[in-house]
Amino acid sequence: MDRNVKINDEGHLMLGGVDAVKLTEKYGTPLYVMDEDAVRGAMRAYRDSIDRFYDGNGMICYASKAFSCKEMYRIAEDEGLGADVVSGGELYTALSVGFPMERICFHGNNKSDAEIKMALYNRVGRIVVDNMEELERISRFADELDYTANVQLRVKPGIDAHTHQFIMTGQIDSKFGFALETGEAMEAVKKAIETPSVRLLGVDCHIGSQIHEVTPFVKAAEVMMDFIADIKSETGYEIEELDLGGGYGIRYTEDDDPVPYAEYMEAVSAAIHKKAADLDVGVPFILMEPGRSIVGEAGTTLYTVGAVKEIPGIRTYVSVDGGMGDNPRYILYQSKYDFLLANRAADEADTVVTVAGKCCESGDLLGENVSLPAAKAGDIMAVLSTGAYNYSMASCYNRNPIPPVVMVQDGEDRLIVKGQSYEDLIRNDL
Ligand code: LLP
Repeated sequence: MDRNVKINDEGHLMLGGVDAVKLTEKYGTPLYVMDEDAVRGAMRAYRDSIDRFYDGNGMICYASKAFSCKEMYRIAEDEGLGADVVSGGELYTALSVGFPMERICFHGNNKSDAEIKMALYNRVGRIVVDNMEELERISRFADELDYTANVQLRVKPGIDAHTHQFIMTGQIDSKFGFALETGEAMEAVKKAIETPSVRLLGVDCHIGSQIHEVTPFVKAAEVMMDFIADIKSETGYEIEELDLGGGYGIRYTEDDDPVPYAEYMEAVSAAIHKKAADLDVGVPFILMEPGRSIVGEAGTTLYTVGAVKEIPGIRTYVSVDGGMGDNPRYILYQSKYDFLLANRAADEADTVVTVAGKCCESGDLLGENVSLPAAKAGDIMAVLSTGAYNYSMASCYNRNPIPPVVMVQDGEDRLIVKGQSYEDLIRNDL
């Protein structure tokens, strides 16, 4: 592992100026820890990039599926961001803290009637339409409310971004949105223009996640600008905004080399301005929806080591008191992470082990070929870059309670999500 981690005189990992071992003494393990400065810093980097490279003519919508809880919507609001929500539950959480609804982008490939009505009733800024049938329902429900819904259309731009197949979304074989190359997207535009109680604001695409190159985003922006120009020439209708989704990669291990966030905006802005001039269309208001890159590197999960099982000539399993319940990303995507022992963070990593969780599944691993100092029961294991799609994808499989989330900043810690109790686990059982 070759990244800068902060270690105090006792050899303990420091997170946001707080001793990680002390955090585990106070809150127990497993424990999710989020570094507030890292979250806010990433938000500001994106927001500033819009000011710097795009004359402030855009909005960053935090993709809250990466980590959704009340405090995240409060922070996003405070930093002047919008939010991408993808379910009634995320919308409800945002509403519960008074998040400005005009800054919400409501996504989803299969929105229920109740979700559409909830979005309309609360006047969300944009509903991103995924299919024709949904467009019809939005129109009907908006009409019932005597309201005109602002919508974007989700388009598959046909960009092949290099990432895990499960998180690739821009290609034609995807469940999300309208395909460009078959003419389906243009049909949807024409339909949306003539649909009552709906105002077509923009077009939207999202090409995938954990992408480490600028080029696919530039390509997507170009394809979408071409589409905006085609719409203008075929229908005379001027599309006002372009939503380029999220997907900007982060650093999990040294194999990852993330692009500084502002570089995306710089390159995309240049491409959009050039296309706008060449094709004689207006420069659209831009939206970007980063999720992982806002919260991913800000998060660390702390566990207590329990059983250590050496199988001679095969491998050593180091088991921790969490696993696929709090971090399903290894079992889902074989995702790699950096590991260290938080109570002996300066010790040399002289063993190679498999880190296992505590669920009744052989596949419940957090990492293989992990370099660590020889771990023993009672050590505190830290897994880095777990801020995105860990808590938000957590389950209480095996009735292991979902751990709490603590925010750290300037040497202070505060609980932002309580851990589940056993009582919580049976709360809805009848
Ligand atoms: N916008 C849309 C429409 C999306 O579908 C997504 C992610 C984002 C924005 C945010 O993408 P990000 O900036 O976080 O890459 N569970 C997977 C990731 C699934 C991403 C789904 N959509 C994982 O753990 O890697």
